[in-house]
Amino acid sequence: MPHSTIDWPELEKAARQAAAHAYVPYSRFAVGAALLTADGRLFTGCNVENASYGLTNCAERTAVYSARAQANMQEVVAVCVYTPTPTPTPPCGACRQVPNEFGPTMQVKLICDGTQTVDTTLDQLLPGAFGPKNLS
Ligand code: THU
Repeated sequence: MPHSTIDWPELEKAARQAAAHAYVPYSRFAVGAALLTADGRLFTGCNVENASYGLTNCAERTAVYSARAQANMQEVVAVCVYTPTPTPTPPCGACRQVPNEFGPTMQVKLICDGTQTVDTTLDQLLPGAFGPKNLS
């Protein structure tokens, strides 16, 4: 889906709101993600930390898993990720690989508490990705 046909203000608002549900007693770094499916639905996620630190789930992956579990999501066309930082924050590796499964060319917008944003695509963030095509 072209960048211009996506309702970015709606996704941005949803990503910021999603961060309010983050469970972040260890990092105090509340992240929110909002994704848009190919059939026009919006789903959100936040990071959920764990006392066993490595089991933490990031906001982007929560959004993907939630959309699939709640609504059988098939394809993601866009994601907006909010971090509580002065400048936009790049998603971690796992949060590039997991969304890749459902939208290898999805649009990605990174937003923060400052005015700067980053507009990119998942294939730019994860070139040469391993995905479903490698198993067929
Ligand atoms: N985090 C995310 O939610 N998404 C990312 O892409 C990077 C990191 C979370 C994980 C952890 O709860 C906190 O940010 C600090 O790493």
